[in-house]
Amino acid sequence: MSNERDEEVQGKAYDRVIMRRLLTYLRPYRAHIGISVILLLVVAGLRLAGPYLTKIAIDNFIVTGDVEGLHKVGIAYTGVLVSIFICRYIQIYLTNLAGQRVMYDIRVAVYRHLQKLSVAYYDRNPVGRLITRVTNDIEALNEMFSSGVVNIFGDIFSLIGIMAVMITLDWKLALVSFAVLPLLTYSAGHFRSKVRSAYREVRAIVSRLNAHLQESITGMHVTQLFNRQERNFGEFEDINREHQDAYIRTIRYYAIFFPAVEVIGALAVGSIIWYGGGQVVQGAISLGVLVAFLQYAQQFFQPISNLSEQYNTMQAAMAASERLFVVLDEKPSVSDSEHPVVLGRPSGRIEFRGVWFSYNEPEWVLKDVNFTVEPGQRVAFVGATGAGKSTIINLICRFYDPQRGQVLIDGVDIRTLSQQELRKYIGLVLQDVFLFSGTIEDNIRLWNDTVTFEDAREAAVRINAHPFVSRLPEGYAASLGERGSNLSTGQRQLISFARALAYDPAILVLDEATSSIDTETERLIQDALRTLMANRTSLIVAHRLSTIQDADQIIVLHRGQIHESGAHRKLLDTGGLYTRLYQLQYREQESVSGE
Ligand SMILES: Nc1ncnc2c1ncn2[C@@H]1O[C@H](COP(=O)(O)OP(=O)(O)OP(=O)(O)O)[C@@H](O)[C@H]1O
Ligand SMILES: [Mg+2]
Repeated sequence: MSNERDEEVQGKAYDRVIMRRLLTYLRPYRAHIGISVILLLVVAGLRLAGPYLTKIAIDNFIVTGDVEGLHKVGIAYTGVLVSIFICRYIQIYLTNLAGQRVMYDIRVAVYRHLQKLSVAYYDRNPVGRLITRVTNDIEALNEMFSSGVVNIFGDIFSLIGIMAVMITLDWKLALVSFAVLPLLTYSAGHFRSKVRSAYREVRAIVSRLNAHLQESITGMHVTQLFNRQERNFGEFEDINREHQDAYIRTIRYYAIFFPAVEVIGALAVGSIIWYGGGQVVQGAISLGVLVAFLQYAQQFFQPISNLSEQYNTMQAAMAASERLFVVLDEKPSVSDSEHPVVLGRPSGRIEFRGVWFSYNEPEWVLKDVNFTVEPGQRVAFVGATGAGKSTIINLICRFYDPQRGQVLIDGVDIRTLSQQELRKYIGLVLQDVFLFSGTIEDNIRLWNDTVTFEDAREAAVRINAHPFVSRLPEGYAASLGERGSNLSTGQRQLISFARALAYDPAILVLDEATSSIDTETERLIQDALRTLMANRTSLIVAHRLSTIQDADQIIVLHRGQIHESGAHRKLLDTGGLYTRLYQLQYREQESVSGE
């Protein structure tokens, strides 16, 4: 919940630094924007012409009874209307086109950047919040482009133009019409500040709503299993109600503001008729001027309410861009060196040299870890839960960098390699297998063109995944649900083995799943493992000690330190931690088989 606070940066409607940065995204479409602005100015000018034409019609032709002249004015008026229509059409189209293109570019930039960020970033940031960035925040920018920023020029120009024309026509009547302005300015200011804070609340709640939804949907089976539905629903309902209330608040302000502007406009019209009418009767001004004034007064209020709304749109967009830029400015905590060393295919010697590591500074998760794995060796890591086994794997794959010490492959510090090169040589099978929505073939090949369908199939055959895949009606083309939800745990594991094998990595890293599987699948997986590990350096985090008895080396971790290491027999002979772990599991197995 502490994350929520930075969700809402106190927003300004205009921030030079942010605006300048946003403008860099607009630059490729400056022609679109330029033409739009010009067209808007033309439209504003054309709109000014309308009432003026009315005045001419009344004063010069109606009063004098010149029907011929009236025709001409009528044609001119129609011309003005048609021109406004065409200009607006092109302008709206161009503005929105540029807006959509900018959205597209920003979404691409954010997505690309998210792919570059290190695993540590995703430890800190809830998924729902990142999704809010890419959806709602970019949408806020969209509103600014489509409804906003360009129109501001037009509106300001209209306001100035109308005021100028009114003053030129008759300054006294103009002053009478402007008498309502203080009232209007006051209510617009009041409206703006109220709506701004209400909207800020809405956006913070939307982010929370997304985070809650994301979490409760992914954890649905746990929710149902532990009958937490009511509780989760309660939480959801609270957020949902807050969202509704905050939104209703904004609506209430709108509902007051717009009619208020109308009433104020009517007041202005009233005073124009009252004062201007008197002037006409006294012959001080012409009837045409009065009618033109009435029309200008009506035009006058539209840009003012537009501007108040655009102010909020801009403010929302500024806040959204600020949050987006925070994401875009985040530096990956793991980065490639400027001139990465190119290793070629490594022989697979792995060394940890005095490695100290912690995820969050104070507690060390690994404390002075030293070990060497020779090419082609099979090494197993064992130890209690939380001992730091998966952490060692995270460091080998360079998802994190150690604070002290080095991780070396073939004698080269992995920080000097590019991450892409490093990961090309490591086959990783994680504790919880991640499958993407797609077919089985896609999930083995991971859409990589260097891995053919034949490779994928062969890998599946060697790993014993082929029998179950070929039993599926669509075989390798069978599509998997999200995260492979339509496969069993063992089957998913086999698919991930096939994936690792198809890539033929020099180094295999395997984090065994803790969940137990049936003996039949276990046997399949054991065979598969043997195939996988052949001819390559293999590191296995093992939970079932039965699987690693023939490993070349067993490293026993205890609270982030290497407690002991050696081959199975040797460790048993010393009678240390490993012996205890082994006896525990052995007894467990006996009691299971004894039932
Ligand atoms: N992403 C993370 N952020 C912060 N702390 C973490 C993170 N991952 C693991 N830890 C902490 O690091 C310690 C070691 O975790 P690790 O995952 O390496 O254990 P493990 O030996 O793999 O355990 P298991 O057998 O349960 O898989 C634990 O105390 C854990 O709380
Ligand atoms: Mg683990």
